[in-house]
Amino acid sequence: MKRSLLLLSALLTVSSALASSVADVKKKGVLVLGTDPTFQPFEFKGADGSFQGFDIEIARAVAKDLGVKLQISPVGFGALMPQSVTSGRVDIAMSAITITPERAKIVSFSAPYYRSAQVFIVKGGNPGKFAWPANVKGKVIGVQANTTGQFAANDTLKPKGAVIKVYDDFAAGLADVQSGRIAALLGDAPTVTSLQKRLPGQFAQAGKELVSEDYGMVFSKGSDLVAAANRTLARLRSSGEYQNLLEKWIAQK
Ligand code: ARG
Repeated sequence: MKRSLLLLSALLTVSSALASSVADVKKKGVLVLGTDPTFQPFEFKGADGSFQGFDIEIARAVAKDLGVKLQISPVGFGALMPQSVTSGRVDIAMSAITITPERAKIVSFSAPYYRSAQVFIVKGGNPGKFAWPANVKGKVIGVQANTTGQFAANDTLKPKGAVIKVYDDFAAGLADVQSGRIAALLGDAPTVTSLQKRLPGQFAQAGKELVSEDYGMVFSKGSDLVAAANRTLARLRSSGEYQNLLEKWIAQK
């Protein structure tokens, strides 16, 4: 009895590790999106508790084209990439996720859907006079765990004498920028412009960008959902909806 239960749970583990496919999603009637909703303007919880942002709307369009509902599963970024996708817990991950060759060994990416960059977020007025590349030695720089900001900081800033502080939660890093506990926090470019709009004067970008990057939607390796997502992206681009979403969520006016 015990043994058969063990066998059953082993089988379940194996099957849940299988790639999620278009057929799986249609059978369930839902597309499960994994996202770390602390990253305005891409994914965040609105005042009414609903999930909002550029990525959320693109994921909704993918679900709509598949003829299913979108179900949102909030996951911290550390667990999201790539475990939530490779374990089959979610069908798609969107969280301003940068396409990198290392990640592409483990998961499959859609075509790029947004060109972004890692930039330094500092307190408004930049009291510590942080500047990249001029002034990083001995400075404490925050990064979110498991992000391209962390990877770039280890590669480029550490060798120049910066002290890297790792946060699981992006918001905790922002709070430390505000309190002056860290000199700068690495974040994706549109997150700074969004902060500046929402909290005028409190945050600024310092220096030039550290690296530029492209975002992709993430799927289990080899999934046919990639082609479906790319068709939706092409449709959004040619219908003008993509442009509307850019203007609604990201473009500075
Ligand atoms: N673009 C960066 C990366 O892919 C950071 C993404 C962080 N996203 C988030 N929702 N916290 O690593």
